[in-house]
Amino acid sequence: MSQAASNLVHTVSGTGTSADDPSSAPTRIAISGAGKKYGELQVFKDINLTFGNGEIVTVVGPSGCGKTTLLRCIDGLIPLSEGEVKIEGSPINGPREGVAMVFQHFGLFPWKTVYQNVAYGLKLARHPAAEIKEKVPYFINLVGLSGFETAFPYQLSGGMQQRCGLARALAMEPHVLLMDEPFAAVDAQTREILQFELLKIWELRPLTMVFVTHSIEEAVLMGHRVVVLKGRPSGVHEVIDVDLPAPRDRGTLGHPRFTEVREHVWSTLMDEVRAAEFEV
Ligand SMILES: Nc1ncnc2c1ncn2[C@@H]1O[C@H](COP(=O)(O)OP(=O)(O)OP(=O)(O)O)[C@@H](O)[C@H]1O
Ligand SMILES: [Mg+2]
Repeated sequence: MSQAASNLVHTVSGTGTSADDPSSAPTRIAISGAGKKYGELQVFKDINLTFGNGEIVTVVGPSGCGKTTLLRCIDGLIPLSEGEVKIEGSPINGPREGVAMVFQHFGLFPWKTVYQNVAYGLKLARHPAAEIKEKVPYFINLVGLSGFETAFPYQLSGGMQQRCGLARALAMEPHVLLMDEPFAAVDAQTREILQFELLKIWELRPLTMVFVTHSIEEAVLMGHRVVVLKGRPSGVHEVIDVDLPAPRDRGTLGHPRFTEVREHVWSTLMDEVRAAEFEV
């Protein structure tokens, strides 16, 4: 067992960056004192997190704890009630260039083809036509959808629709990619394929990813760090340095450290799930 594997699960409460690359890279996103209320409902409060340049951070937590809400606040789609989110040092007051989001339910326009869906954001941002013509096929190819440029979403499988959503986000060449359970709606095999493909894409173009998932395996496989949200209102219960060797691939799933972190996250979340069951 490697030195890393023999380490106990390292946890940091609330904030901070890991000692190992790439999480020790310069801060890309800084969340401080973040709280969100919908009317009387305080969803989360006092969240302090920093995400490094090129770091993949996965976020897990019980249903309803505010994962989607947090992503929307980072994206600037909705405002925080307290605290602030800064990206590259400047506060977020609305959607901004360089930040892209992939939604749980694909979010494709059903009346647009794959090509038109992928080109949409670039057109909206008024990128020159020649650039769009060059970039769109590149990103369609990157996600393995070449040959389906003229297909409409209803003609695609769930996995293909998700690839299309991913290509649309990547085409904006974001520095920050926010992913809300991107693979939740696809079957287990497709999910595994997409996970490894996304990791390969990240190797090619390392960007800061905040990846929300309900799958503990996925959180540990994909994340350099795993953020565990818990409580009502929720807060950061733990930030776990995953500390697995790069590149992550199928072999990662058999690594002792993978099992160790997975079991740790599982037992942490199960306490919450059990508590929630008795409340229903
Ligand atoms: N627009 C809204 N207006 C009022 N309440 C909302 C709104 N969006 C979400 N909520 C509430 O805020 C809480 C957090 O919702 P959110 O969707 O962020 O949770 P989540 O952690 O993403 O859950 P899941 O894992 O089921 O996707 C829930 O109680 C939800 O009912
Ligand atoms: Mg959600």
